[in-house]
Amino acid sequence: MFRTHQRSDFRGGITVCGIFGYVGGKSAAKEIVQGLQALTYRGYDSAGVAVQNDYGTQIKKGVGAISEIAGVASLRGKVGVGHTRWATHGEVSVNNAHPFSYGGYTVVHNGIIENYAELKRELTAKGYVFQSQTDSEVIVMLLHFYREYPLLTALRKTVERLTGSYAIVALSDRDKGSIVCTRKNSPLIIGLGKEETFISSDVPALYGKAYQYTPLNEGDFVWVHMGGISFYHGETEVFPKLYSVNENASCHEKRGYAHFMRKEIGEVPNAVNNTLTLLRGQEIALKRVFSNATRVLLTGCGTAFHAAVFGKYLLSRALKIPTQAEVASELRYSGEKVEKSCVCIAITQSGETADTLRLLQSLKKQGHKKLIVITNTPRSSVTAFADITLLTGAGPEIGVAATKSFTSQLAAFTFIVQALSGERGEFITLPKLLTKTLQLESETKEIARELQGQKSVFFLGRDLDYPLALEGSLKLKEVSYLFSDGYAAGELKHGTLALIEKGTPVIVCLTQPRLAEKTLNALHEVSCRGAKVFLITQYEKYSGVLGVEKCLLLPPSSPHLAPLLLSVPLQFLAYHTAVLMGRNPDRPRNLAKSVTVE
Ligand code: AGP
Ligand code: GLU
Repeated sequence: MFRTHQRSDFRGGITVCGIFGYVGGKSAAKEIVQGLQALTYRGYDSAGVAVQNDYGTQIKKGVGAISEIAGVASLRGKVGVGHTRWATHGEVSVNNAHPFSYGGYTVVHNGIIENYAELKRELTAKGYVFQSQTDSEVIVMLLHFYREYPLLTALRKTVERLTGSYAIVALSDRDKGSIVCTRKNSPLIIGLGKEETFISSDVPALYGKAYQYTPLNEGDFVWVHMGGISFYHGETEVFPKLYSVNENASCHEKRGYAHFMRKEIGEVPNAVNNTLTLLRGQEIALKRVFSNATRVLLTGCGTAFHAAVFGKYLLSRALKIPTQAEVASELRYSGEKVEKSCVCIAITQSGETADTLRLLQSLKKQGHKKLIVITNTPRSSVTAFADITLLTGAGPEIGVAATKSFTSQLAAFTFIVQALSGERGEFITLPKLLTKTLQLESETKEIARELQGQKSVFFLGRDLDYPLALEGSLKLKEVSYLFSDGYAAGELKHGTLALIEKGTPVIVCLTQPRLAEKTLNALHEVSCRGAKVFLITQYEKYSGVLGVEKCLLLPPSSPHLAPLLLSVPLQFLAYHTAVLMGRNPDRPRNLAKSVTVE
């Protein structure tokens, strides 16, 4: 039934907030709701579904996640599309929720239309009346404007007018039974089932539905109809390569856990084990890229940036060449000259983060040949710019907060350093040590009780513990909404110490013996000002230090491995504080799993 053939140069992205479409023999509404539920972790401020039947297209949409939208189950038809939004333009409201419709055309959009204001003025002058404040609504008006053309041609003409990023899926009551779609800088995937076709932002949403999938390339246009699928690049028909949907449905089920975040912290040992297995065999390629390197520049956003800071400490010590870590969104526009002999390492769980992606794209364009990408998502957009892709093996991460993927990124750096030094990997013991570390959960929960409801919480660490302090703080902020900050332990006294008052919780991370005394100085400085100090270390001798309220003892391990172990109680701390405070750690407010806008 489907006209699909092999094309070897296929690349594309497989993440981000949510579009799900359906053409086939079943209830479109039911399929779409299931698809959107699997995508909800990408964006969930509002949602909507459009279903087409012989009488036309009906839409149900509203504020909240798809499960909260009334009337969707009543939509009858076998063709449709749904959307779960992460607002960029216009408040979270029913009117701004997707899908949008106009004159028999229906559209959903992921991304940002940068020239929407200008297009809105032009279309308004032509008599179009807008219902929303979004940038997306211009798309449906443009399609209608080009209504003299068949739907796919109208879509081509529409995107010629757009600047920005988009994954667009559209239906028209003039071409019933068809869906058309295209993308630029936002991912979109076609999934093939038994006589049915799915359109999705993400592969895991296809589990249990499609057998094969193909990610769209930039500039591809697809026409899905009851008789088959036609793929085009621009106007030329193409035959994409199909990949099998390797089901790993367990990643998408909570398996008895209250939250994905909790389940995923429990998966850290496996994630690290898989990562180390996946990386085996990359040693020669790594040595080649690092040969004659004069500098190393590491980059990423959020948690991935913290992994970059960790990598910076490890690599500068191992390679003895200048090494720096920069936030991708700053580096991109800093004007910094990145010479060809500089190894650039980008870290991104999703492989779709716009800030990281654009930076790599521009370095690639300038002819850089020492670009390494550490990602958790095979075939994600960022891999198109990599000279070496190092895959972490954490598997799909559903919780918005990065947990198992972060520890896997740290493991990747441990691997790189050992690969470059040629040393035998002491890290084979890591998964076992991590499993032991999971046993600290109940003790972490006791500390979480002390954190709940506090005005502010501080995390301190030096050297390799510093990025862990940054990450512990980010994790707590994003899922509990408590104010917190992470500091290099020596830095607090230069200003922030003013915020320490009686009872302020301070988490001190101490896994690096070289600077232990200095870290203990910071501990004393805060404790004598009334802070409630919680220490995390693998050294029992520090557990009784004056001023320590409670000490979490990590399993004995070397200073290289201990920071990886430390990541686990920090993740538990954030999780349990959030739960105790009644937050849903899987869906922190205002956030989305991967941020595909700059
Ligand atoms: C971490 O918990 C956050 N979800 C966020 O900081 C995330 O790490 C960041 O947006 C980068 O995402 P990426 O790794 O997919 O590029
Ligand atoms: N920019 C669009 C909006 O704010 C799309 C956002 C999204 O990708 O969910 O509605």
